[in-house]
Amino acid sequence: MKHIFNEGTSDRTLLLLHGTGGTEQDLLPLAEIIDPTANVLSVKGNVSENGMARFFRRLEEGVFDEEDLIKQTTELNEFLSEAADKYKFDRANIVAIGYSNGANIAGSLLFHHEQALKGAILHHPMVPRRNITLPDLKSVDVFIGAGHNDPLCKEAESKELYKVLEDNGADVTLHWENQGHQLTRSEVDAAKVWYEKKY
Ligand code: MLT
Repeated sequence: MKHIFNEGTSDRTLLLLHGTGGTEQDLLPLAEIIDPTANVLSVKGNVSENGMARFFRRLEEGVFDEEDLIKQTTELNEFLSEAADKYKFDRANIVAIGYSNGANIAGSLLFHHEQALKGAILHHPMVPRRNITLPDLKSVDVFIGAGHNDPLCKEAESKELYKVLEDNGADVTLHWENQGHQLTRSEVDAAKVWYEKKY
C-alpha cells in the first residue's frame, strides 16, 4: 500500500487513515499533535471512487460494499504486519487515528481481527458491519469523536458503535461535538487528552 513511514523515538506507532478523497499526507499534523515521539505509518487507501482515494468501496453514501470492506480490511491488517517487519516497529503497539472513511476501516480492523490494534482514535466513524461476532476487545482503548449534528454518522449510530465496542470488552470514550462531519481542533485536543491518559 502507498504509505509514509516516519521513525519516532518511542516504541509506539500511530497508524494514520485519511478520509474519502484524502492522501497519506492529510493526517500527518494530527500525529504531531497527538504524539510527536511515536513512529508514524500513514497509509493511502487502495480504492478509487471517481479519482478519490478510499479504503474500501461503497454502494452509495453510507452503504458499504461489505465484501470489499472485508477484503480491504484483511489486506490492511496484513500490510501492518509486513510494515512492522520492514520498519522494525512493535506490531502489538499500534494506535490508529482515522477520520471518516479512515475511521471506518480502523473500526473494521477492530471488528474483524483480534489484536489488530492496541487502540484507536476514530473521528466520525460509522458502524462498519452489523450482526457479526466481534473478537475479544478487552485490551483495546477506543476514542470516538462524534457530532450531535453529523449528517453522515448520526448520533444514534455513534452511540450504537460505542455500545458494540463496549459490549465486546473495549474501553471506549465517546466525545461529542456540534460541527457536523467536520474534524475540529477541539475534537483533536480531546483525543490528545484521552491519549495522554491512556499511554
Ligand atoms: C464511508 O463511506 O466510509 C463514509 O460514508 C464516510 C465517507 O464519506 O467517507
